[in-house]
Amino acid sequence: MKLKSISAFIILIFIFGIAYAGIANYSKPKVMTVERAMPEEAKACIECHGELNPGLVADWAMSRHAHAGITCYDCHRAEPGDSDINTAHKKEYNNKDLPYGDSKYYVPISTIVSPKDCSRCHAQEAEEYAKSKHANTLEVIWKIDPWLNDGMNSELEREAGCFYCHGSVVEMEKDGSFKEGSWPNVGVGRLNPDGSLGSCTSCHTRHRFSVAEARKPEACGQCHLGPDHPQIEIYNESKHGDIYHTFKDEYNFDAAPGTWTPGVDYRGPTCASCHMSGVKGVNTSHDVTERLSWELQAPLTVRPENFTAFPADTNWEEERSKMALVCQQCHSKSWTDDHYRKTDNVIKEYNEVYYKPAKEMLDKLYAEGKLDKSKFFDEVLEVEFYELWHHEGRRARMGTAMMAPDYAWWHGFYECKNRFNHFMHEAELLLEGKTDSKKAKNYPNATGSTEKPELLKYKK
Ligand code: HEC
Ligand code: HEC
Ligand code: HEC
Ligand code: HEC
Ligand code: HEC
Ligand code: HEC
Ligand code: HEC
Ligand code: HEC
Repeated sequence: MKLKSISAFIILIFIFGIAYAGIANYSKPKVMTVERAMPEEAKACIECHGELNPGLVADWAMSRHAHAGITCYDCHRAEPGDSDINTAHKKEYNNKDLPYGDSKYYVPISTIVSPKDCSRCHAQEAEEYAKSKHANTLEVIWKIDPWLNDGMNSELEREAGCFYCHGSVVEMEKDGSFKEGSWPNVGVGRLNPDGSLGSCTSCHTRHRFSVAEARKPEACGQCHLGPDHPQIEIYNESKHGDIYHTFKDEYNFDAAPGTWTPGVDYRGPTCASCHMSGVKGVNTSHDVTERLSWELQAPLTVRPENFTAFPADTNWEEERSKMALVCQQCHSKSWTDDHYRKTDNVIKEYNEVYYKPAKEMLDKLYAEGKLDKSKFFDEVLEVEFYELWHHEGRRARMGTAMMAPDYAWWHGFYECKNRFNHFMHEAELLLEGKTDSKKAKNYPNATGSTEKPELLKYKK
């Protein structure tokens, strides 16, 4: 059978759906005729892009949006005067070789669909997201990161690395095209031309925009991995991850939004279950800072409300009780309490036994002029100090908080001990004048700009 067009294909899906609903004896099926609901301008997008990018349009056709009659134009529409209009798109309508290639169908569009655009229909999700650390990560990294503030990497290294996960500033030229290096831009906290922060496709990839995808750990693992934030490795090692890999075929990832229930739809939690999805007594949230009682990523572990770069607007005890309630869907209170007792003690030990003495030593080396404070990372002991908190120390803390003993010990405290001993030994030799600071003479590619992007406005 040859399908005449994509919209015919969609109608077929609906007919099939209705037939199926009839067999399954559901309540009265809803008849949706896509063509009737859709203006010609919106149909033009589907027909023309169906020819140009069939994969993209098929993806949309399978989405809840298509089924609810939300078209390309509902998301990509631009109002005259919008800061992100794709002005070059107008000329695509002058191509008679393409379906609907006629200027009478022209409507202005924007390539970017920002959280602000989604918020027209999903106000609550967008509002929660806007206050999260995900959305505000550019503020965090420009305030505290020595790579950026000292320019120790190049613009290209940032674009290919940091900004892929964190996002950066999306900038447009006068003609509506994107400034080189600022697009594609998919990180959790990119700054959009309309002033909104982030990209909802970080977890709900286009054009399916699936809730099932975001509930799976893989959605988070694309960014939460590696030596410094190995959450996906930690998860895979935990019993929860083991259960997920064994039983995920039985999990009901397609449960309607807000109804995904532990015990009913899944037997072991995913990242989303613990950090975002609702359970009885705790609402779903798009603010991943909720439910946290520690700032584990920081050098010195503090409460989220005391993280000076971006203090959370939360109370740690309340947030902990929310997370504990998630655990208690499947575990007893004493099991949960004991897990937190262990986590709290690990954090205290990391802070007192490893971090504070090492920091004191680093400060002494600076004070005595043994290390040069003007740039970070160009002297060996600076790198060692960084890896103690940013790599090994985080692994010990995160491994414990998320039930992964190999990360807590072998990749965590065991490595902290080696690092700490070596750091202290070298530091003492340096203080005694028996060695030099091992400064890199030609630090490679330390060419990145040290100026915070002008468009990034936040209070110091
Ligand atoms: C007559 C054909 C045609 C129609 C109708 C049409 N487009 Fe396009 N569109 C194109 C072409 C050609 C491009 C450039 C493609 C490329 O860069 O590969 C394009 C580019 C785009 C882009 C930018 C892609 C990028 O990465 O820069 C978006 C978004 C887009 N179209 C959305 C829409 C929407 C929404 C509609 C309906 C309101 C629509 N288009 C109608 C042909 C069309
Ligand atoms: C639910 C909202 C939504 C709908 C509906 C939607 N889009 Fe998109 N589209 C997006 C988002 C989000 C992006 C990513 C742009 C960004 O990061 O801001 C995107 C990107 C694109 C791009 C450029 C990116 C690429 O991968 O080349 C094209 C072209 C595009 N959309 C065309 C379409 C067409 C055609 C339709 C209808 C079949 C459609 N869109 C429906 C939200 C939507
Ligand atoms: C014009 C209104 C509108 C816009 C704009 C819109 N959506 Fe939706 N969205 C809907 C409707 C309607 C549904 C379907 C609700 C249902 O099926 O119960 C939906 C459902 C969803 C779902 C749930 C899908 C599932 O698998 O259950 C997600 C996720 C989603 N939208 C994300 C987005 C994102 C991200 C954007 C912006 C890029 C966006 N939406 C823009 C109207 C919109
Ligand atoms: C693979 C994705 C990824 C890349 C690449 C990446 N980050 Fe991150 N970054 C993250 C994640 C995830 C976190 C959250 C860590 C946590 O809470 O455990 C984070 C946290 C941070 C933080 C806050 C905590 C801290 O370290 O002080 C800063 C600052 C930061 N990153 C800067 C950068 C810079 C600068 C680069 C590039 C030189 C970079 N990141 C590259 C994903 C990434
Ligand atoms: C960090 C990953 C992540 C990002 C980024 C994200 N979402 Fe979600 N989203 C989820 C998860 C997980 C769920 C499923 C919650 C559940 O189990 O019901 C979800 C569910 C939804 C739903 C279904 C209704 C609901 O609230 O449960 C909508 C609509 C939605 N997201 C829209 C958005 C919009 C709009 C944005 C951007 C402002 C966005 N999402 C960004 C992870 C994310
Ligand atoms: C596109 C990359 C990306 C994806 C996908 C992503 N994150 Fe993140 N996440 C980050 C970055 C970057 C940070 C660091 C924010 C900061 O502190 O600057 C972060 C921070 C966090 C934090 C710490 C918040 C805090 O207050 O310290 C949690 C928890 C988190 N993410 C959970 C998740 C979950 C759960 C998912 C999947 C449903 C997810 N993330 C998906 C990039 C990502
Ligand atoms: C069993 C529940 C559970 C699962 C599953 C889980 N986490 Fe966590 N996560 C926690 C707890 C508990 C903490 C520590 C909370 C606190 O601060 O009290 C934590 C901490 C974090 C942090 C540290 C935030 C900070 O303070 O810097 C990040 C990031 C994170 N989780 C991301 C993820 C990602 C990504 C996944 C999946 C790969 C995941 N988590 C799976 C429960 C879970
Ligand atoms: C959806 C149900 C569910 C949720 C929610 C859940 N867990 Fe679990 N958890 C399990 C199951 C099932 C096991 C496997 C028990 C066994 O070993 O027989 C498990 C195992 C564990 C283990 C044991 C690890 C080991 O090696 O034996 C710990 C500790 C744990 N969970 C803590 C937590 C904490 C803390 C939370 C909340 C932050 C939580 N869990 C949330 C279902 C859950």
